[in-house]
Amino acid sequence: MARSCCVFLICLFFSLMLGHGVEASHVIYRTFQNLQATNPDNTYRTSYHFQPPKNWMNDPNGPMMYKGIYHLFYQYNPYGADWGNIVWAHSTSVDFVNWTPRAPAIFPDQPGDINGCWSGSTTILPGYKPAILYTGIDPQKSQVQNLAVPKNLSDPLLIEWVKSPYNPLMAPTNLNQINASSFRDPTTSWLGPDKTWRVIIGSKRHRRGLAILYRSKDFVHWVKAKHPLHSAKDTGMWECPDFFPVSSQGGLDTNTVGLGIKHVLKLSLDDTKHDYYTVGMYNLDKDRYVPDKGSVDNDTGLRYDYGKFYASKTFYDSAKKRRILWGWINESLPQPEYVKQGWSGIQAIPRSIWLDKSEKQLVQWPIMEIEKLRGNRVDMPSSVLKGGSMLEISSVTAAQADVEISFGEIELEKAELMDPSWTNPQLLCSRKATSVKGGLGPFGLKVLASKDLKEYTAVFFRIFKGHNKYVVLMCSDQSRSSLNHNTDKTTYGAFVEVDPTNEQLSLRSLIDHSIVESFGGGGKACITARVYPTLAIGNWAHLYAFNYGSGSVRISKLSAWSMKKALIN
Ligand SMILES: *[C@@H]1O[C@H](CO)[C@@H](O)[C@H](O)[C@H]1NC(C)=O
Ligand SMILES: *[C@@H]1O[C@H](CO)[C@@H](O)[C@H](O)[C@H]1NC(C)=O
Ligand SMILES: *[C@@H]1O[C@H](CO)[C@@H](O)[C@H](O)[C@H]1NC(C)=O
Ligand SMILES: *[C@@H]1O[C@H](CO)[C@@H](O)[C@H](O)[C@H]1NC(C)=O
Repeated sequence: MARSCCVFLICLFFSLMLGHGVEASHVIYRTFQNLQATNPDNTYRTSYHFQPPKNWMNDPNGPMMYKGIYHLFYQYNPYGADWGNIVWAHSTSVDFVNWTPRAPAIFPDQPGDINGCWSGSTTILPGYKPAILYTGIDPQKSQVQNLAVPKNLSDPLLIEWVKSPYNPLMAPTNLNQINASSFRDPTTSWLGPDKTWRVIIGSKRHRRGLAILYRSKDFVHWVKAKHPLHSAKDTGMWECPDFFPVSSQGGLDTNTVGLGIKHVLKLSLDDTKHDYYTVGMYNLDKDRYVPDKGSVDNDTGLRYDYGKFYASKTFYDSAKKRRILWGWINESLPQPEYVKQGWSGIQAIPRSIWLDKSEKQLVQWPIMEIEKLRGNRVDMPSSVLKGGSMLEISSVTAAQADVEISFGEIELEKAELMDPSWTNPQLLCSRKATSVKGGLGPFGLKVLASKDLKEYTAVFFRIFKGHNKYVVLMCSDQSRSSLNHNTDKTTYGAFVEVDPTNEQLSLRSLIDHSIVESFGGGGKACITARVYPTLAIGNWAHLYAFNYGSGSVRISKLSAWSMKKALIN
């Protein structure tokens, strides 16, 4: 037994070594990409997050609303639970909660995409005609941009897509000096007042990230602009750029440009796997985007999510006049474990996003439709949570729940002094784990906890006294989340722009078996974690509120719901 196991490990080792290749930042393990799990494991599958029935999923692609139906396409491997053989899989929803699988919309079948159909976006053209621009990998392994349009516009499900005979529409040439291995992920296009379409494509030159700009009058013939829309030094390859107008009143159509309208440019950094964004102005005359002063233009700046959340994409939902964000959350298991599990990857709950009143950052909140899944509700009366205490929130299905908690009457005089060198919130959270007693905090939730607390994931706040204001830190501590030693248990952290002297401090966590998505300060900071409890599974999971600081806080509001299962694919 031990011997055959050892032989297996050696084989695994060699197949990893031999199968290993790198194609434009996508690591390829040929032995794994066509491997179907003989015994799929559903322990960690989710109940209301978007997942295909099996196999590998990564980036969300081309989300849109068309004729009352929500569409989500996604990067998918039909043959195994590891990355490879990538097609655009497709699902539709009438209620944004339950999803029906459809046939893959785009798969390799022409020279412009014969080696893969990678990420891209949809644009709704005049006459209510959706169009997809996506990256194809051509016979030379160059990254090129292609167009596909629906075969039948009367079919609201948009099952069949037809590729343009002009593909590829944008290709790297020596003349335009684009790196053919770093040229991908076209955005939703926008139409300028000059009736010209614009699109940006992620790229890099040496270490400088680039948003290469193209223009077109007819959406078929595209000409590269002299200058990128934007670039930033030392950020590396920009994947999945997203560029859109924002307001604090709600969502704006992607074509909205003009006086006083702020824009957001989001970039997915291949080097760090972080999605960061800046808020700024789109200068239409120069066709350039300029981040606002103080908006940090690298991943030490603002992020959609300070945990796991990558390759995200937004769309404008014209039916409800809101902008919605989708993002991919990968496994925190080592590759052989997720391949054995038979599936890999989840999409985060779609989030409404809008510009904060300060106009300095975005605010995010789970789409309201998800509240339809709320079942049994538990409310706790307002009570003081003394330092060193813990409170069980019972009568909800703790492995499949939605929890909202607010803290007030915080004993602010107990706050410790903020050290000015503490600029990295993730580092601060990992130094001050859940067990480290502070003046104010940690206080928050222990989720997916075993009764004996051998396992739990803690999502909590700490408050420090800064130079002229209080600083609120939000942490998601996975260090005790699983007895499986192979999982990635990185602790995540973020600063939350909330003033605890005159605001309640709120936390909402969506718990779904192996995922914990947390929204601090009403959605001003979000942290998503993947966890794999071995004890706190299903009915064995518990949920607690706790305060391990010395100062007391009042739980001013606490509601928790058991979540129903959605019908997903
Ligand atoms: C287009 O879709 C509509 C609605 O589903 C259907 O009734 C019609 O037959 C389709 N047309 C063709 C040519 O397939
Ligand atoms: C082009 O991109 C590839 C993939 O990241 C990289 O290995 C290569 O160094 C880049 N070439 C140049 C000239 O920057
Ligand atoms: C990020 O940008 C800030 C502000 O421009 C700069 O101070 C910092 O050094 C940059 N960090 C990295 C890692 O490039
Ligand atoms: C996927 O998960 C691994 C392990 O947690 C992590 O190191 C990596 O950055 C993740 N990739 C993305 C795209 O999130």
